[in-house]
Amino acid sequence: MERNLAMEVVRVTEAAALAAARLMGRGDNVAADQAAVTAMRKALNYVQFKGRVVIGEGERDEAPMLFIGEEVGAAESPRVDIAVDPLEGTSIVASGGNNALAVIAIAEEGGFLHAPDTYMDKIAVGPKGRGSIDITASPTENLRSVAKALKVYVEDLCAIILDRPRHQDLIRECREAGARIKLIGDGDVAGAIATAKEGSGVDILMGIGGAPEGVLAAAALKCLGGDMQGVLKFRNKEETDRAKAMGVTDLNRVYGLDDLASSDVMFAATGVTFGDYLQGVRFFSGGATTQSVVMRSRSRTVRMIDTTHYFEFKPKYD
Ligand code: FBP
Repeated sequence: MERNLAMEVVRVTEAAALAAARLMGRGDNVAADQAAVTAMRKALNYVQFKGRVVIGEGERDEAPMLFIGEEVGAAESPRVDIAVDPLEGTSIVASGGNNALAVIAIAEEGGFLHAPDTYMDKIAVGPKGRGSIDITASPTENLRSVAKALKVYVEDLCAIILDRPRHQDLIRECREAGARIKLIGDGDVAGAIATAKEGSGVDILMGIGGAPEGVLAAAALKCLGGDMQGVLKFRNKEETDRAKAMGVTDLNRVYGLDDLASSDVMFAATGVTFGDYLQGVRFFSGGATTQSVVMRSRSRTVRMIDTTHYFEFKPKYD
């Protein structure tokens, strides 16, 4: 994949983050999401590629923008598949919390699992834990195996888990196993990335979150040398039917990192609110600063980009 695209896609996540950050703490998830989607879509149409959205904001009829199957971009080539989450953590922004991100990942055509907008059971670790996870094994077994790979005691490990009633048993078992836990209100993409960040204090992500977020997290972990497995989780027949229509034949299949993101991938994210990995948007008179990361799986380069935006001189994407 054309490596110069890396800078182009950062402009896209910056645009989404700047738009969403305006609505921080306003108590309106929908408005914040809408602002990010609108800004991201406009910016995407200036990028020199032909992109097909494969992970997006739902089906065409449900979401007017960035729907699955939508084509974006300003050129006829290269042809790429795109996974987007213009605002990962809508509730985080609404309440002014931590770790909201604007996220995009790009793969060669066919490079992402076409995940339906359902849930996914996930387990993810950073590079040192690679090869030590097995989502079919119990949380205790996984904690022991990851602890061994990291050469620490289970009591030293920190598991990051979405704070949801559905995770009661998981949380109880992790506690019984002796591990420490960081419960988060939202944002398991940032949680998965944290497992791969030296010094984040987080070693393993476990539990059920969004399936599209699972594919985005896999793209990031592929660039960072981490590991991940996922199993789709369905709540009703409508969801299983949707998955089948999207080509899922084995509803219980365990997807490994390379099944979720099979080709060379590029991942970019910009902090919307302050986070463990990225600074949030900070406004000043006439402008704002953003912090982004862009990474590529082929070269494993991880670039942190601090940008100062002067609104008077910014191109208007219309
Ligand atoms: P949104 O930004 O779409 O609200 O997603 C936030 C999030 O916390 C994800 O990080 C996570 O995968 C998913 O929601 C979990 O879903 P739910 O809130 O339904 O448990």
